[in-house]
Amino acid sequence: MPTFTDPIINCDSESVYAPSDDTYLMLDYFKSHIDSLYFDGIKLSEIKKILDLGTGTGIIAIFFQLTKMENLNFNPEIHGSDILKEAINCAKLNEKVNNFNSEIKFLHSNLFKNFPNSLKHSFNIIVFNPPYLPSSQLIKEEDKKDIDYSWNGGIKGYEVLINFLKSAISFLNLKKEHYIYCITSSRTNLNALNKKITKLGYKIEIVKQKHVFFEQLYLNRIKYNKH
Ligand SMILES: C[S@@+](CC[C@H](N)C(=O)[O-])C[C@H]1O[C@@H](n2cnc3c(N)ncnc32)[C@H](O)[C@@H]1O
Repeated sequence: MPTFTDPIINCDSESVYAPSDDTYLMLDYFKSHIDSLYFDGIKLSEIKKILDLGTGTGIIAIFFQLTKMENLNFNPEIHGSDILKEAINCAKLNEKVNNFNSEIKFLHSNLFKNFPNSLKHSFNIIVFNPPYLPSSQLIKEEDKKDIDYSWNGGIKGYEVLINFLKSAISFLNLKKEHYIYCITSSRTNLNALNKKITKLGYKIEIVKQKHVFFEQLYLNRIKYNKH
């Protein structure tokens, strides 16, 4: 069994999402699907770039960076991004707390808007624990509080995820094995969401789930199916 060092995460900011059940649903899955040669069936040597989009405190990006220290066959470049400047600042501080010196490439960006063209077609793995809850009403961008970006996925709850998946096609390395991992919730219309995802050309499957209070959380593994 490989060993994993859990990231040390500090965050005093009320604007930044504190790691929760959804975060740990992802991390637990990753821990049980990395061995000395493969990440969830993909050869470690083929994984050159991983993106943690919506990184928040940076926990998932830092987990991957720490895993590189434990497993020398695993050596991808780790990227993290968030729509909130405050999250990026918090993630950079946490990177230091875990003894890394600007090794993770953090970028302040609404989805992929500020990503350079050089990152197109490059990611083998993209992880997004998105805001996935429906909001009862449309909140205008200018009226959103920072912390709303953590949970408010739009009126249906999955609009942010769909917009992400539309752009993600251009940033995945489709020539190689690739996966997107993302969380969804039973509090949204999952039939409608899954149909939309399939229509975009992706194949989606649930790889892990957990019941938390009033909802079921799903970890989905998504692959682009059309070439
Ligand atoms: C549920 S939190 C997850 C945070 C962290 N990845 C974790 O698992 O603990 C969702 C994160 O996505 C970010 N986010 C929301 N909308 C975004 C967008 N359009 N582009 C980039 N990040 C976004 C939020 O600011 C927040 O940090």
